[in-house]
Amino acid sequence: AHHPGFSPAPDSNYADLRQREGVLAALQQVRSQLGKTYQPLINGEYCQTDRTLASENPCNPKEIIGSMGQISVDQAEAAMTAAKAAFPAWKATPAQDRAAIIRKAGDLMEQRREQLVAWVVLEVGKPIAEADAEVTEAIDFCHYYSAEMERLDQALNLDVVGETDRYHYQPRGIALVIAPWNFPIAIPTGMTVAALVSGNCTLLKPAAVSSVIMAKVTEILVEAGIPKGVFQYIPGSGSTVGAHLVKHKDVHMIAFTGSREVGCQIYAEAAVLQPGQKHLKRVVAEMGGKNALIIDESADLDQAVAGVVQSAFGYSGQKCSACSRAIVLEPVYDAFLARLVEATKSLNIGPTDNPGVQMGPVVDGSAQAKIREYIATGKTEAQVALEMEAPEGGYFVGPVIFSEVSPQATIAQEEIFGPVLAVIKAKSFDEALTIANGTDYALTGGIYSRTPSHLDRAKAEFEVGNLYINRGITGAIVNRQPFGGFKLSGVGSKAGGPDYLVQFMEPRVITENI
Ligand code: SER
Repeated sequence: AHHPGFSPAPDSNYADLRQREGVLAALQQVRSQLGKTYQPLINGEYCQTDRTLASENPCNPKEIIGSMGQISVDQAEAAMTAAKAAFPAWKATPAQDRAAIIRKAGDLMEQRREQLVAWVVLEVGKPIAEADAEVTEAIDFCHYYSAEMERLDQALNLDVVGETDRYHYQPRGIALVIAPWNFPIAIPTGMTVAALVSGNCTLLKPAAVSSVIMAKVTEILVEAGIPKGVFQYIPGSGSTVGAHLVKHKDVHMIAFTGSREVGCQIYAEAAVLQPGQKHLKRVVAEMGGKNALIIDESADLDQAVAGVVQSAFGYSGQKCSACSRAIVLEPVYDAFLARLVEATKSLNIGPTDNPGVQMGPVVDGSAQAKIREYIATGKTEAQVALEMEAPEGGYFVGPVIFSEVSPQATIAQEEIFGPVLAVIKAKSFDEALTIANGTDYALTGGIYSRTPSHLDRAKAEFEVGNLYINRGITGAIVNRQPFGGFKLSGVGSKAGGPDYLVQFMEPRVITENI
């Protein structure tokens, strides 16, 4: 995965006592800063708002992480005016200079890694090691997209004799980024810096439950030298401010990651030409998944069990990449299920500020209620192979494994976004592939097998954007596993890959007769 101009950041190594102590000290330090109020950034100024929203620690909702000022529709208009005013100069800024600012933001994140990890752990209840990997991803997005912009800045020479033909890119204009909470630093940072480095003025609307962590990233972008009006941090209500901006005539580009329901709505609303609008909007939307791992009779079951547990219950199943279906061939079904249940039982579940904890809570009370509803539905459709107790206090949901699940069951078709796994029996490899492909989604998928013909068929026929063989199906790495799906998993090309930035730009060709 060599890329000229990009080298990936290493994760922390918490086997090293010093690094472990470092992150614990950062957790303490961040805890001493909890409860502050953060303000949106509009036209280079942190501004007052009429309304604030508290963000809480899902492990212990009484612990308030901070309060985030929520902008009004008028303030959204002010942000839009500032973005339009800043655009000509940002567009004219050489790509290398834009890249230098974004690279510096990545460097600052690297310097503050432990603090950022601590904010992620506390604000969304993510286990420490997973929060660390996420901060790595955010840093990598800054460095990778900067290198990508420098690559794309070289005009393509298509000359023939007597004529120069040069193919190059220019920014689209105003980008609106609507971000999710489940990778509260990596995904918002990735979408935002992609839009910025390619020359767009960018408005970032975070998810309400994870807006403090991006307030920290806002401080970093300002410190890195992002000009006023070029980047604006605009927390606010989705139904008022979000909807207003999606429909705004001056938005050129919308980058969204989140639910299928909201993604489809944005796609539809962005398609409507507004009075005075002189362009069509480009929408990039990363939505859900109902991802499957196939385990055939030749699989290494030790590997398969470990991979399914990690993929299904990592961050409590709240990843669009998570495994929510295990499709197991009949001859190994009973053995696999028994071992899977035993392995899951040994997961250490609890508050995520403890480095020994492998699974934390879900993000908030409404997520918890929705997941519990799916668990109740599952009980009417399938057998319960395991239902673990959840710790008291926070928004915990213990892992649930359903067995003998019909491929058409609700819990085998709908994205639950929680620690709930459907185990499905397949009579043949053919049937396993048909079941795997039998949902609306095509995001991640995987297979544990040592049968070459099965691996070949999976490569050719398993309809997913990211296929993983003999490993877990989460944790895509920038420039190694460019990430994204198709069908109803989303529209647009892969984050962390070579086609991503192009979406934020317009290609032009200049032909000169000489
Ligand atoms: N990129 C993440 C993963 O691969 C999901 O957004 O797990």
